[in-house]
Amino acid sequence: MSTNKKSPVSRSGRFTGGPAADVAQFTESISFDWRLWRHDLAGSMAHATMLQKIGVLTKKESRAIIRGLDAIGKEIKAGQFQWKPALEDVHMNIEAELTRRVPAGAKLHTARSRNDQVALDMRLWLRDEITLLLGDLAALQRALVALGEKNSAVIIPGYTHLQRAQPVHFAHHLLAYVEMLERDCERLWDCHSRVNICPLGSGAIAGTTLPLDRALVAELLGFVDAQGKVQLTQNSMDAVSDRDFAVEFCAAGALAAVHLSRLAEDVILWASAEFNFIKIADAYTTGSSLMPQKKNPDIAELTRGKTGRVFGNLMALLTLLKGLPMTYNRDLQEDKERLFDTADTVRASARLMAAMLRHTHVNQPVCACAAADPALLATDLADYLVGKGMAFRPAHHVVGAVVALAEKSGKRLNELTLAELQSIDPTFGRDALGVFNLKTAMAKRNLTGAPGTKEVAKQLARWRAQLS
Ligand code: ARG
Repeated sequence: MSTNKKSPVSRSGRFTGGPAADVAQFTESISFDWRLWRHDLAGSMAHATMLQKIGVLTKKESRAIIRGLDAIGKEIKAGQFQWKPALEDVHMNIEAELTRRVPAGAKLHTARSRNDQVALDMRLWLRDEITLLLGDLAALQRALVALGEKNSAVIIPGYTHLQRAQPVHFAHHLLAYVEMLERDCERLWDCHSRVNICPLGSGAIAGTTLPLDRALVAELLGFVDAQGKVQLTQNSMDAVSDRDFAVEFCAAGALAAVHLSRLAEDVILWASAEFNFIKIADAYTTGSSLMPQKKNPDIAELTRGKTGRVFGNLMALLTLLKGLPMTYNRDLQEDKERLFDTADTVRASARLMAAMLRHTHVNQPVCACAAADPALLATDLADYLVGKGMAFRPAHHVVGAVVALAEKSGKRLNELTLAELQSIDPTFGRDALGVFNLKTAMAKRNLTGAPGTKEVAKQLARWRAQLS
């Protein structure tokens, strides 16, 4: 590709020649911003429609422009469009090709700058991506709920400090992630409300002297709130220079990546021989090139690993913005790859984690064995003493002594005799050992948000209804 070819759109007039080859290569963005083509076309069509309405374009001209843009779109979709790095970015590539085909294309950029155009394209693109990501996150939530429902009777130890703590329904553990992902969705949706504002009409920095109909463009492009009220940026300088909407998305994406990564870590632990709580289907694991017995949870590991780049994208965007003088600076071109990467990475991680979970089998006997550890119910024994009128602190102390006695005598907690319990404290009665019945113990944990049998069933049903 010749980088010396004169662009028919932007450099004509002021410049005598094209930029040097390595300058063009350094400054181009077409290699990545071509992804904005659909939104660039949509923005240009709306702009053309509006220019016709205010009399800048004749009906014939605007029709020719829109038809030309449509044809270009079809070629891009078919992979037949020739992107030219010499034309720098997606905006100039499309406009130049349009103008080559349709003379009226030369009027399309009236009262528009690439500065408001790129802000518009990114907002349109991100709006769609948020919708898609919300769909992917909801699908992951559904996969978690389905796995919980399929294993609704399974109880596992809950952990703190990665030490066995108290029994929980397996589904309760999964639903914890459903809650986290729900907040991620809320954050993304909230971010959407600030993405969904039309910057077109801001021009390069200071709007235009021409009587544009900004509201019409915004309406055509769907920049309206829930009440149908048109959403327009209110300051041209702000509109072309801030990318806080992209930062917000990358921040919400980073937090979603944290949640995906924690889920991935649990899956990795559960799939290990040490836990052996789950088995991931072969198609969703990989082998080792050296050790024939290996089956590795790579999807979960990569989800955990990719969190690093998602954090990096957020930091890169924040750093990109912090020292920029008003208003548009070319630095802003660096926003796109970070934004694209966060969207791609979080979406792919959510999709693959969901697919993996749909092909994950829970090892119920192993879980049952782990959950049968009576030490998990030591707190229940303290609660039992509280029920007998003892204050919790001394009860905690007494049960501590019971645990020590069991350890010393090589017994499990529930194997101690009533006499042994009473040797520590006479408050223990015949019913004390009943505390170690796991089923009863789980039936008792039924406060809102608790991991007990009834409450978890209720939560599963709530999520099932909410997600369908
Ligand atoms: N490719 C540029 C970007 O991504 C488009 C805006 C260019 N504007 C300019 N005045 N050079 O930011």
